[in-house]
Amino acid sequence: MKKFKIADIELDNRYIQAPLAGYTSYASRKLAYKYGASLTYTEMISCNAINYKNNKTLEMLPYKKEDNKLALQLFGGETNHILEAVKYVDSNCVYDFLDFNFGCPVPKVIKQKAGSSYLTKQREDEMYHLLREMVKISSRPVICKIRLGYKEFNYLDIAKLVEQAGVSMLAVHGRLQKEGFSGIVHYDMINQIKQNVNIPIVANGNIDLTNIDEVEKITNADAFMFGRSIMGYPRLFKNLIEKEDNLPITSKNRHDQFDDMLEHLNLLIQEKGEQQACMLFRGIACFYLKGLDQTKEIKPLLLKSKTKQEFIEILTKYR
Ligand SMILES: Cc1cc2nc3c(=O)[nH]c(=O)nc-3n(C[C@H](O)[C@H](O)[C@H](O)COP(=O)(O)O)c2cc1C
Repeated sequence: MKKFKIADIELDNRYIQAPLAGYTSYASRKLAYKYGASLTYTEMISCNAINYKNNKTLEMLPYKKEDNKLALQLFGGETNHILEAVKYVDSNCVYDFLDFNFGCPVPKVIKQKAGSSYLTKQREDEMYHLLREMVKISSRPVICKIRLGYKEFNYLDIAKLVEQAGVSMLAVHGRLQKEGFSGIVHYDMINQIKQNVNIPIVANGNIDLTNIDEVEKITNADAFMFGRSIMGYPRLFKNLIEKEDNLPITSKNRHDQFDDMLEHLNLLIQEKGEQQACMLFRGIACFYLKGLDQTKEIKPLLLKSKTKQEFIEILTKYR
C-alpha cells in the first residue's frame, strides 16, 4: 500500500474522506476509518461561532482521539477572529491537522468573506498573512483546501503563496468557485500545481473507483479525496484498498449497505441523541439506497421515521 506523509506524520494510505457539512460528523468518520480511510475531516466549523461559544458549534468540535488521523476544518473571513478561534481549538480539541476552508462557494459563506471568496486576486496578500499567522500559532501542521480560483484561474499563485506561508498539504477541488459542484473537473490544472510546489497535493472532485487510475495519471497527485462518492458508501475506502492490493473488489450489495446503515444510525444516536440523530438520518439513509432495488418503496418510509425503532423495523423488513 502506498503511503503518504503530511509534515512528518505518515498516513496509512492515499485515500481521504472529504469534509462534508451535514455529513462528516463523528459517526461518518468512524465508519470511514473502519473501511480504511487514512484521514478524515470534521465538517467546516465557523470561527465566529466558536468565538461566541455557540453550543451547537462547540458540540461539533472533536474532544477525543479518533481511530485514525483527523483534520479539524475551520472557516471564517476575518483574520483576527480566525486566529482567536485557532487558539481556542489548539488548546481545547483533539486532532492531527488544522485545516482551513478556501473552497466553499455558497452565498451564505461568501457573504462573510469566507470560503472561496479568499481566492480573488485582491485577497492573495491577506490569505498569505492569515496562513502565516495560523502556522505560527498552531501546534499542529496547518493544511488547506482550495479551488482553482474564484471567477478566474489563479491557482499557481495561490498554491505558491500557500507553500510559502508554511502550509503542509494542499487539497485542490479542481473547479472555480463559479463552477459549483458540477461540470468538468480540471485535473490537468491540479497537475500544474503539483509540478510547481513541493508540498503534498491532494486531488479532489468527482473521483471514484472507476476513474481513480486516470485521475492519478493526469494529476500525479500524492493522495485523493472523496466526497459525494462516499456519502452512503463508506466501503468505497475498502474497495480502493482492494484495488490497490490487486484483490477482488467487493461489489456494493444490499446486505452490507443495510449493515452500514444501521451502524451509522447507532453511531449518530451515540453522538447526537435519538431525536436529532433520527431527523438527520432520514437524509443520510437515502444515500445508502443508491443503486439498490425497491428504493421507491423504502425511501418514503425512511423519510418519515422518527425513532430508532421505526428505522430498525424498515431496515429489518427490507433487508
Ligand atoms: C453536501 C456537501 C457538503 C460539503 N461541505 C464541505 C465542507 O464543510 N468543507 C469543505 O471544504 N468542502 C465541503 N464540500 C465540498 C467537498 O469537500 C468536495 O470538495 C466537493 O464535493 C467535490 O468533491 P466530490 O466530487 O468528491 O464530492 C461539501 C460538498 C457537499 C456536496
